[in-house]
Amino acid sequence: MPKKRILSGMRPTGKLHIGHYVGALENWIKLQDEYDSYHLIADYHVLTTRLKTEDIYQDSIDMLIDWLACGLDPVKSPIFRQSQIKEHAELHLIFSMLITVNRLERNPTLKDQVRDLNIEQVIYGHLGYPVLQAADILLYKGNAVPVGEDQVPHVEISREIARKFNNQYGNVFPEPEPLLTQFARLPGLDGGAKMSKSLNNTILLSDNPETVKAKMKKAVTDPNKIRKGDPGNPDICLVFAYHKKFNSVEVPEIDAGCRSGALGCVDCKMRCAAKISTFLAPIIEKRNYYEQRLDEVADILNDGESRAKATAEATMSEVRTKMKIG
Ligand code: TRP
Repeated sequence: MPKKRILSGMRPTGKLHIGHYVGALENWIKLQDEYDSYHLIADYHVLTTRLKTEDIYQDSIDMLIDWLACGLDPVKSPIFRQSQIKEHAELHLIFSMLITVNRLERNPTLKDQVRDLNIEQVIYGHLGYPVLQAADILLYKGNAVPVGEDQVPHVEISREIARKFNNQYGNVFPEPEPLLTQFARLPGLDGGAKMSKSLNNTILLSDNPETVKAKMKKAVTDPNKIRKGDPGNPDICLVFAYHKKFNSVEVPEIDAGCRSGALGCVDCKMRCAAKISTFLAPIIEKRNYYEQRLDEVADILNDGESRAKATAEATMSEVRTKMKIG
């Protein structure tokens, strides 16, 4: 049996943070043996919320270096930029005829973004975000898409578009399934639900131990635990959430120490910072390797893009044949 195919992707927003690792990358790395994977740098998707493009290339390279440093294997799985494979734009155009405006307006992820980013007028391309995403997935005939909860509605739209195309013109596309990332997202350093670059509450995969310590010092903890000796509630503390991920062995002791008050927040934070930095050390080392060999990084991208292009062209030729447009 041939391996099933995965299409995974992220918008390039520059250097990644530990939330990206926990919420997505860790899973992608695990899946790359079991599945035939394609890894997409969704650079056109950035334009849906930011028209400024001069940083897109560098942001893409920074993200790619983080992917490689964490263990994505570009030999096993092509890594490529959406903007370099013109077939994404072409399939997006065809798909845009197979879904109604009304359906896209009901997309909850769009509604969340409009609210969070205070968008007053939605541009046409933003409404079409999931249509472009469907083209990303289906151009490679992805059977599965590793995503967090917020992206499930987009995968559902991809399924609907695949079905609509197949019914209208003949069978070309699989109906992709979401592969839910099991670990919940990491909270931000400000205590917010989510780490996010725009909220400035992140620990980057490239942060050195000094930076991690400095950021952890400022992290928000249980507001009722003001000084050492005060009992705290670890369940509402983001530092405890990080311990669970990066220091699971010491979790029972930290839980007890926080509740009794014996463990102060400063100690707790510094222990956590040390564990995070231990986890990051090999990533930073690999990162530095690639930073010093940008030619190698460019070669990886070139190779990924030519492999992706071959698959994309084959799918588009099937699409045109089925549609009888040559
Ligand atoms: N929408 C995804 C995100 O914001 C990024 C993305 C674009 C994507 N195209 C994709 C993810 C295709 C998976 C498959 O995270």
